[in-house]
Amino acid sequence: MIKIIVKNGEELDRAAADFVEPGVVAFPTGSTPVGMYRELRSRSMDWTKLTIFMLDVNYPQDPSEPTSFYSFVKTNLPGVEFNMLNSAAEDPAKECEAYEASIKAAGGLDLAILGIGKNGHIAYNEPGTNPETLTHLANLEPDTISVNNLKIQQGLTMGIKTIMSAKKVLLLAKGSNKADAIKAALTPPPNLSCPASWLQNHSDCTFLIDEAAASKL
Ligand code: GLP
Repeated sequence: MIKIIVKNGEELDRAAADFVEPGVVAFPTGSTPVGMYRELRSRSMDWTKLTIFMLDVNYPQDPSEPTSFYSFVKTNLPGVEFNMLNSAAEDPAKECEAYEASIKAAGGLDLAILGIGKNGHIAYNEPGTNPETLTHLANLEPDTISVNNLKIQQGLTMGIKTIMSAKKVLLLAKGSNKADAIKAALTPPPNLSCPASWLQNHSDCTFLIDEAAASKL
């Protein structure tokens, strides 16, 4: 596990953008990566060299709703092609299976970029999630629902195993409200109460965090 601690959010945005290279990448939503997307846009990134798979979606939700992750991508990566789970799928299990198959067909993930929830969740893998899970329908914790200002209580998400299958993982965290989660994630051994802690078992994982998020290490 590599730990990079940067002074502030802007440095983090630039350092995160440096990790993005041509290939198959998993991208997160949330407030944390917004600056990285801005930075990538300002670098005139050649998006045709990336095959993007978004990590997760709220479920069930009409993609056209402003709080949907589809709307998030349209705002933050305008004009960019991407793959995303269908948040209005009638058969969620089938949708998840098909998503796993498309990741495989693309050659697997070269890089997975993640945020982290206050409770240590990665994508929508909440505490208690079995680390062997592939893409699945997940129940969200009350805190995740309120932090994300959601009406829905579930999500479709790449599983911990899907994320762990990426050749390289980059986890981003900004701000003191993530300090407890970062400490739990980096404290051995990996355990069910902190989903991000399974990343300790990954052979090429970097935690890129600002000083505030690192304040409890
Ligand atoms: C949501 C997303 C996660 C994200 C997390 C943190 O729950 N499903 O992928 O990492 O929020 O969001 P933020 O970056 O806004 O703190």
